[in-house]
Amino acid sequence: MKQLVLIYHSQSGRNEHLAEQLYLGARRGGEVRVKLLRSVDVELAHLQRADAVVWLGAENFGLPNGMMLDCLARQFYGAKQSLAGKPYAVVMSTGNGGAGALRYLENFLGAMGMRQCQPATVFQGELSAQHGSECRAMGEAFAAALAMGIY
Ligand SMILES: Cc1cc2nc3c(=O)[nH]c(=O)nc-3n(C[C@H](O)[C@H](O)[C@H](O)COP(=O)(O)O)c2cc1C
Repeated sequence: MKQLVLIYHSQSGRNEHLAEQLYLGARRGGEVRVKLLRSVDVELAHLQRADAVVWLGAENFGLPNGMMLDCLARQFYGAKQSLAGKPYAVVMSTGNGGAGALRYLENFLGAMGMRQCQPATVFQGELSAQHGSECRAMGEAFAAALAMGIY
């Protein structure tokens, strides 16, 4: 069975909430095992075993938050050799921006050899119930696409 890994860092709980909603959606999206991980707990083996990864985290000072950067930097050399072509997506809750963090993340993940398989989703400001349901739908669609071999 394919495995979808959701990796997040969250200071106030917003990105954690989005990650949990994606997780709930993905669990009903198809024959896919879904794993939810804090970025601080990620090891190279998690990325290598994943068939696809969704990254979630805030923008801080125009960059991905420090804990996401730490996670990426810790895995960079090993990941670079073993993640070529692996699909990923980015979902972010930010204040009022996101473009800087997104550009940085996409460059970094591209340098790791990962392949972006759907446009990034950036939610700005306060989260609403609508954002939660969008994430559940996105998780379901993502898992279904992975199960069917579309991603
Ligand atoms: C120190 C700090 C720096 C921030 N810098 C930015 C920024 O550059 N751009 C932006 O859109 N939001 C910025 N924010 C707002 C966060 O991205 C936003 O509150 C986000 O939803 C927090 O998600 P989290 O609590 O799940 O980590 C900043 C927040 C903090 C605490």
